[in-house]
Amino acid sequence: MKLFIDTANVDEIRKAHELGVIAGVTTNPSLIAKEGKDFFATVKEIVSIVGNLPISAEVISLKADEMVEQGKKLADLGESIVVKIPMTEDGLKATNQFAKLGIKTNVTLIFSSPQALLAARAGATYVSPFVGRLDDINQVGMKLIEEISTIFKVHNIASEIITASVRTTPHVIEAALLGADIATVPYKVIQQMAKHPLTDAGIERFLADWQGANLSSF
Ligand code: E4P
Repeated sequence: MKLFIDTANVDEIRKAHELGVIAGVTTNPSLIAKEGKDFFATVKEIVSIVGNLPISAEVISLKADEMVEQGKKLADLGESIVVKIPMTEDGLKATNQFAKLGIKTNVTLIFSSPQALLAARAGATYVSPFVGRLDDINQVGMKLIEEISTIFKVHNIASEIITASVRTTPHVIEAALLGADIATVPYKVIQQMAKHPLTDAGIERFLADWQGANLSSF
């Protein structure tokens, strides 16, 4: 399973990219708004950091023809741009038009397997089921990943599943075990994934033993 970073913060994107662990970036209007900077300038900066890795940038309109216009403007920023589109009937129509134009899409705000199937059939490159927001309303987000994963496998559907709205390290591992292609994760989850108390304790012990032995240094 690949990892994308879910942020519009360029410092976080740069740090995660330097670790060599990310295969793409996802943003959304809330994440862009949080940074308080120009949308297109931000996306351009992200392109300059991650080069040809896929970068999802979302349209704002809810009308198919306007989504297509907005998406084309975003796609002009680079071949790595993936137009992110909300899961609505207009969104499906726009997704289908982008598929015909050869422009990659990420259909977002997916909360059911029928929605995922429709998005895939409309030609979505990626579908983004949101697990955390389902957990928030006392539904089991991972059940959705399991369903979509099974349906896509059984029917040989090429759209990739991005597990989105990831809040914890267990979310990432469950998504991987269930066969999601990608998990898009906030930077803080990448940091949590890197940590283990026994790693810290082990380092402390190794260094203490080394210093106690008074050996010649590097
Ligand atoms: C994914 O593409 C979305 O940007 C994101 O995962 C939403 O996460 P949230 O539910 O934590 O806002």
